[in-house]
Amino acid sequence: MQSTTVVMEDASFPYRLGSDCADEIVARLGELDASGYFVISDTTVAGLYGHDLTARIHKEAGPAVLLTHEEGEPHKGLATVSTLAEQALEHGADRRAIIVALGGGVTGNIAGLLASLLFRGTRLVHVPTTVVAMLDSVLSLKQAVNATYGKNLVGTFYQPVEVLADTAMLRTLPPREMRSGMGEVVKNALAIRPSMLDRMANVLEPSARYDDETLRWAIAESLAAKAAVTHADKRERGAGLVLEYGHTAGHAIEHASHGRVAHGAGVVVGMAIAAEVSRRLGHADAEFVAQHGELASAGGIPPTVPAHVDVARVKTWLSYDNKRGYLDSPQGHTPMVLLAGPGRVLHTGSLPLVPVPLALLEEVVDATAE
Ligand SMILES: NC(=O)c1ccc[n+]([C@@H]2O[C@H](COP(=O)([O-])OP(=O)(O)OC[C@H]3O[C@@H](n4cnc5c(N)ncnc54)[C@H](O)[C@@H]3O)[C@@H](O)[C@H]2O)c1
Repeated sequence: MQSTTVVMEDASFPYRLGSDCADEIVARLGELDASGYFVISDTTVAGLYGHDLTARIHKEAGPAVLLTHEEGEPHKGLATVSTLAEQALEHGADRRAIIVALGGGVTGNIAGLLASLLFRGTRLVHVPTTVVAMLDSVLSLKQAVNATYGKNLVGTFYQPVEVLADTAMLRTLPPREMRSGMGEVVKNALAIRPSMLDRMANVLEPSARYDDETLRWAIAESLAAKAAVTHADKRERGAGLVLEYGHTAGHAIEHASHGRVAHGAGVVVGMAIAAEVSRRLGHADAEFVAQHGELASAGGIPPTVPAHVDVARVKTWLSYDNKRGYLDSPQGHTPMVLLAGPGRVLHTGSLPLVPVPLALLEEVVDATAE
C-alpha cells in the first residue's frame, strides 16, 4: 500500500491506499495492538466485507466483533451511535479498543462519533468502501450525525489514527454511488487541481466502470487537492470552503429529490449552475461553462436538474445553504463558491465565497431544469 501523511494543522495521520490489500489491512490493524477491534458497518457492507474482515482480524490481529447498523441517511442519528456504544461495551470494549469504520460516509460518521465519545475518545481506523468515503469523508475531521432538524447537526471534530483503503472493495459499488464519488473528483479537479483535467476528461466513463489504477490515481490526486486547502484549515471554515464548490445548488437538488439524486450527482449539476452564474456575472466564459457540461456527461450525469425534481422546492432550499453566516451578504444574496476558470477561485476578503443575488441563481436553476 502507498502511504501518505494527511496533515491538517496539528492533526496528522497516515493514509494507506492499495488494491487487493486485505492482508496488509489486517496486518496493520494487528500492529496497532488493540485490546479488541470493533468493526462497524451497515448491513450491506457487513454482508460483502464485514464478516470476512472481522473473522480475519479475529484470527490474525486480536479479538474482533462486528457491529452493524441499518444503512442510509435516516439511520445516521444519535440513536444508532448510542445502540452501538452499548453493544461495544457489552462485548467488553475498553480504553485500548479500536473502532474500525468499515463502509461509506454514513458508517464513517457514525463510527467516528462513536469513537470520539467512547471513554471520551478511543482510537478510530477508517476502512472506507465508497469513493465518497475514500476521498472525502475520511479526510475530514467532522464526525456528525443527523437530527430531526437537519443533516450533520450533532457532532464533533475527531481524527482517525489511520486510514486503510483498498480499491478492490469498490468493485461491488453500485454505478450510482461510483458516479457520485467521481463527481467529487471532478469538483477537486475544477476547483483546486486543474492539472488533473486532461486525464479526467479521458478516463471518465458514463458506465461508471473504472480500473484500479484509475481509481488509485483519482483518490491520490483528490487527497493532494484536499490537503492543499485544509492543511491550514482543519475545520474547513476558511480556504477549505472551496470544497463546497457546486454544493449550494447541489445540496438543494439533493434535498428536493428526496434522496433520488445522489450527493455527488447533485454537486455535478450544482457546479454547472455555479459556472453559469459566474458567466452571467462576467467572471467565467462560455467555454468554461461548456467544460462543466462535457465533464458531467462523460461521468454519466446529465448537467441538468432532473425532470422528477420539483424546481420550486430546489429554489426554496437554496436559501437554507450552510454557507450563510460566513459573509455579511446583502439582503437577497447567498454566498457561493464561484470560479473564473479552472482553479481560479473568486474571493471576498480571504474567503473563497462571493455573494450572489438569489434572483440570478434562481433564474439559472430554472434555465438548467430538464
Ligand atoms: N466531512 C464529512 O465528514 C463528510 C464528507 C462527505 C460526506 N459525508 C457524509 O457521508 C455520507 C455519504 O457517504 P456515502 O456516499 O459513502 O454513503 P453511504 O455510506 O450511505 O454508502 C452508500 C451506499 O453504498 C453502499 N456501499 C458502501 N460500500 C459499498 C461497497 N463497497 N459495495 C457495495 N455497496 C456499498 C452502502 O450500503 C450504501 O447503501 C453522507 O451522510 C455525508 O454527510 C461526510
